[in-house]
Amino acid sequence: MRALLTSKWTKVAVFFICLIPLGALVWRGFNHGLGANPVEFIQLTTGDWTLRFLVITLSITPFRKMLNLPDLIRFRRMLGLFAFSYLCIHFLTYLFLDQSFDFAAIWKDIAKRPFITVGFLGFLLLLPLAITSTAGWIRRLGGKRWQMLHRAIYFAAVAGVIHYYWKVKSDVRMPLFYGALVGILLLWRLRDWFFKRRSATGAKLSPQHAPANPAP
Ligand code: HEM
Repeated sequence: MRALLTSKWTKVAVFFICLIPLGALVWRGFNHGLGANPVEFIQLTTGDWTLRFLVITLSITPFRKMLNLPDLIRFRRMLGLFAFSYLCIHFLTYLFLDQSFDFAAIWKDIAKRPFITVGFLGFLLLLPLAITSTAGWIRRLGGKRWQMLHRAIYFAAVAGVIHYYWKVKSDVRMPLFYGALVGILLLWRLRDWFFKRRSATGAKLSPQHAPANPAP
């Protein structure tokens, strides 16, 4: 398994698999397969894939730890960047095809429709993460600060779920399903964090770590 996960070719294969939804969209576009409302079709498809990639990215750490597969980390950055790329197509479709780059109308829409406001917040949260996803930025920010910043992905995923929930209005089964997934991943992370803190405090208090000549 380790050989498979560390192979350059696995990464290349995952990269091309992640491009399939985009390829399918382009193929449909050239074959009149986008339905009666192509703009809506592109928006819904790219919105769905943004959320799927966010959930997959957030699942990497729990799976790494539970299955004892540390090499899964090699795919996390790429998957996160795919989430952001599908979001960019989603956002650009809205800006260009839906609103024709009419910035006055766009600001009005962002301020007026709560589901758009929350979606935009999700975009704003993910933007710095995409920018600082390189090794250079990890070095510049320092591991701890970089990690803190990148926790914003959880808030972006929550914003994405609320955006979806407010958008669908009647059949809320899918947004609730994604909400449950994000909730489980968030709880797992909090539990992990809680145990790490507890063992760090325990280590500090243990006799091994006590000062050699404690004050009387
Ligand atoms: C983290 C960020 C975001 C996520 C995860 C996300 C996800 C989604 C999802 C899942 C849908 C519904 C898909 C369906 O019903 O099958 C959707 C719809 C939509 N999103 Fe987003 N979105 C995000 C950000 C944005 C932003 C920044 C905008 C624009 C400002 C936007 C505009 C829209 C619009 C207009 C629709 C409705 C499309 C329609 O009904 O024609 N979204 N989005």
